[in-house]
Amino acid sequence: MTLNEQIEIFDTTLRDGEQTPGVSLTPQEKLEIARQLDRLGVDAIEAGFPIASQGELEAVKLIVREGLKSEVYALARVSKNDIDAVISSGASNIHLFIATSDLHLTYKLKLIREQAIERAVNGVEYAKAHGLKVEFSAEDATRSDIEYLNKVYKSVVDAGADRIDIPDTVGIMTPAKFSNLVKEVRKAVNVPVSVHCHNDFGLAVANSLAAVEAGATRIHVTVNGIGERAGNAALEEVVMALQCLYNRRTRVNTRLIYETSKIVSQLTGVMVQPNKAIVGENAFAHESGIHTHGILSMPLTYEPINPEIVGRKRMIQAGKHAGTHGILAKLQDMGWQPTEEQLKEITAKVKELGDKG
Ligand code: KIV
Ligand code: ZN
Repeated sequence: MTLNEQIEIFDTTLRDGEQTPGVSLTPQEKLEIARQLDRLGVDAIEAGFPIASQGELEAVKLIVREGLKSEVYALARVSKNDIDAVISSGASNIHLFIATSDLHLTYKLKLIREQAIERAVNGVEYAKAHGLKVEFSAEDATRSDIEYLNKVYKSVVDAGADRIDIPDTVGIMTPAKFSNLVKEVRKAVNVPVSVHCHNDFGLAVANSLAAVEAGATRIHVTVNGIGERAGNAALEEVVMALQCLYNRRTRVNTRLIYETSKIVSQLTGVMVQPNKAIVGENAFAHESGIHTHGILSMPLTYEPINPEIVGRKRMIQAGKHAGTHGILAKLQDMGWQPTEEQLKEITAKVKELGDKG
């Protein structure tokens, strides 16, 4: 395994996350989220797409002026107008992209492969000539011909790109395939590699982690996994899996994860599903008698991590699967101390109510 010690978190909640259908943030709301992401400790914040609208440009300007510890990136296609918009936002880091799959080249861009390389190189050279740090993405990389893809990456690195990113734009990778792809690309270029995974098959986090094992050093994520269609790799899942399952460090203060999730959900209006890992309301809730009994005597029995690590509290739920241990804990939580007799009666009543649906 070619694992690196510290993995960088590139948060794109304010760009790809905002591309969630129906989501639109004001510059002030974006600033509020950016401040929170900075407190959270992400390495990079993709603040927006300045060419897209006046508000986007304004938001990126506001965030740049905050002087955050996190690096601030802005998105641009490889065109002069897009790059000029980033320059006028004051951002010193640019996320430049052009599609490289034949599908996108033929039907979307109407370019032949060589033309796309030329545009990519010109874009990178222009951005570098204006003093920007460049992360270059080959959009739809995972459906691109690998020889051509590597040719594109080599060309942009020769033109000065500081880092390259491999987007799985429509989320069609499996962990094994993506690991191989990352290894192939790493053999071709000598700059750090990022990955950007979408969740169309629910594999964005697994694919991102496989990429880390293959040597990627930066992962693009969004808070609560929001983003286009089924979303992006979720920050909270990637960070906690890296820390707890892969023994990798990030700069993220995990105790602020839940609070951040709440802020993003409130400002975007995108609710978090109750069974969502780490930040869902049920992620640390226990109802069944067997589980609550185990938890109350030793939390590790049914909790892989201490909820406090991610800013949460355990929740014991009363319900028809509950036993007396769980019901008692719940009652004590509410300030009641029933007698043994009362506890038996209450437990029986809870089950009776539960059976009625
Ligand atoms: O998913 C994607 O390919 C993107 C690009 C802009 C990198 O978001
Ligand atoms: Zn994306």
